[in-house]
Amino acid sequence: MNSEAYKMFSVENKVIVITGGAGFLGMQFAKALGLAGAQIVIWDNCDFSFLQSQAVLLRQKNIKCIAQDVDLTDMVVVNKMANSVIEKFDRIDVLINNAALNPAVDSAEAEQMFSPYEKYPVDLFKKEVEVDLIGTHLCIQAAAPQMIKRRSGVILNISSEYANIAADNRIYGEGQFKSIAYIAAKSGVLGLTRGWASYLGEYGVRVNAFTPGGMPKPEVSEEFRRKYSSLNMLGRTANPGEYDGAILFLCSDASSFMTGNQLVMDGGKSAW
Ligand SMILES: NC(=O)c1ccc[n+]([C@@H]2O[C@H](COP(=O)([O-])OP(=O)(O)OC[C@H]3O[C@@H](n4cnc5c(N)ncnc54)[C@H](O)[C@@H]3O)[C@@H](O)[C@H]2O)c1
Repeated sequence: MNSEAYKMFSVENKVIVITGGAGFLGMQFAKALGLAGAQIVIWDNCDFSFLQSQAVLLRQKNIKCIAQDVDLTDMVVVNKMANSVIEKFDRIDVLINNAALNPAVDSAEAEQMFSPYEKYPVDLFKKEVEVDLIGTHLCIQAAAPQMIKRRSGVILNISSEYANIAADNRIYGEGQFKSIAYIAAKSGVLGLTRGWASYLGEYGVRVNAFTPGGMPKPEVSEEFRRKYSSLNMLGRTANPGEYDGAILFLCSDASSFMTGNQLVMDGGKSAW
């Protein structure tokens, strides 16, 4: 393909930092953008050997990728790592704020996160907001100054369908409810997106959100998947790789006149 429109989707040689990049969606984004020629930098605070093995998987596909151990709730570490990326690669072109506390439904880690709302542990609520919302803000604070200086850059915040609509808790098990802190934090991510977009617009730095519907992790039960699928117009959950085109659009010049907004891909769920 050789059309001008096609060229607008290029991310060739762009330096792209992906927080939570070792996770389920993060790896899909890293692969899609890396195969399109971007230099990928994964930030994650998962087990260090797992983090490195995820980077190896990407490099085996000839993707330029490094992985750094970053807890994005630690402002000092985030700033240090942002500076190290800029020192090594000269710039951060794109920051994708993808990390969140989002364990698979029915997993051991998820147990407390499905508590009834009137009993939701306040410490857990604070922790989720710290990662999902404040962590996103800290990463933007660290990456934005060099984007302002260069008058160029893209920030992409991964939100959730639950930023626009409440969870239909009937799909979860008896006495289980989608984390109220997650819903609140992801809604906050949309406000953060608009606020930063307004602040950075005059420098030509764009800030958007991507709002995906459910792409359940492989370990999720068939029963849950079926219930979840019944809630949108397409009657199914998203398949792995199905968000890649949207991410390429949002990270590239194809979306050059879009800022302060969200791209929703939820199988029509929020339009019903
Ligand atoms: N999977 C879905 O169906 C779905 C739907 C809507 C939105 N999302 C959003 O997509 C993003 C990715 O979700 P996922 O399903 O891939 O989850 P995931 O749990 O596989 O990935 C999240 C990653 O974030 C990392 N992380 C958590 N806390 C961190 C911290 N303090 N510092 C650095 N890294 C940290 C985790 O280690 C993990 O690798 C999340 O923002 C989630 O809210 C996912």
